[in-house]
Amino acid sequence: MTETTATESVTAMPRLGDPAPAFTAKTTQGDINFPGDYEGSWVILFSHPADFTPVCTSEFMTFASMQEDFAGLNTKLVGLSVDGLYSHIAWLRTIKEKITFRDMKDVEVTFPLIEDITMEIARAYGMIMPGEDSTKAVRAVFVIDPAGMIRTIIYYPLSLGRNFDELRRVVIALQTADAFDVATPADWRPGEPVIVPPAGSCGVAQDRMDGEQDGVTCVDWFFCTKEITVEQVDAAVLVN
Ligand code: BEZ
Repeated sequence: MTETTATESVTAMPRLGDPAPAFTAKTTQGDINFPGDYEGSWVILFSHPADFTPVCTSEFMTFASMQEDFAGLNTKLVGLSVDGLYSHIAWLRTIKEKITFRDMKDVEVTFPLIEDITMEIARAYGMIMPGEDSTKAVRAVFVIDPAGMIRTIIYYPLSLGRNFDELRRVVIALQTADAFDVATPADWRPGEPVIVPPAGSCGVAQDRMDGEQDGVTCVDWFFCTKEITVEQVDAAVLVN
């Protein structure tokens, strides 16, 4: 079998639980020192393949329209592509002046968009996947916590626009898990029961049995849930 050369330019990818690789960069909002400038905030660091492309345009308009919503979750947005700053500026101006998508128009992107013409940052974050394209970043999403640790990584191919409702759900679920020392089940939404992790995995008592005790309902020793209301989740995750 012939060895692929696709991996030759790929460096180690950061993993969940790793500190976010540090860098300084020029952005459409000035220079940034990452993740140091974001200490105390959650961050969604995301890459897009190229300026002046339609799927990316729809994503930027959607991110920009949700920026306040994410700010309410103490979450800041930072974009990146391997295009240069003048391309970024021209593209974002075009979006504001000309593009309508769904019910969005006159959309101003005010979160920073990093220029990464050397691909140094994209490589450090494993955003270049040569099997997709060796000269563009894929649609990578890194959710980074206030201590600068990588908590979720999601990759989408060039052809597939991201699901922003899911990105919002991920941020709320991570913050809820941290605040209540719980896990969240499949398709969890605020107001639905959360998972109380099995004994030993999160310092939970060892003698849990079937039934209900202290608000924890167990259907077996390894499957226990408890109720957390929407109001409790809101109180834990919403700022202001
Ligand atoms: C887009 O954003 O439309 C796109 C970018 C790169 C490849 C394919 C589509």
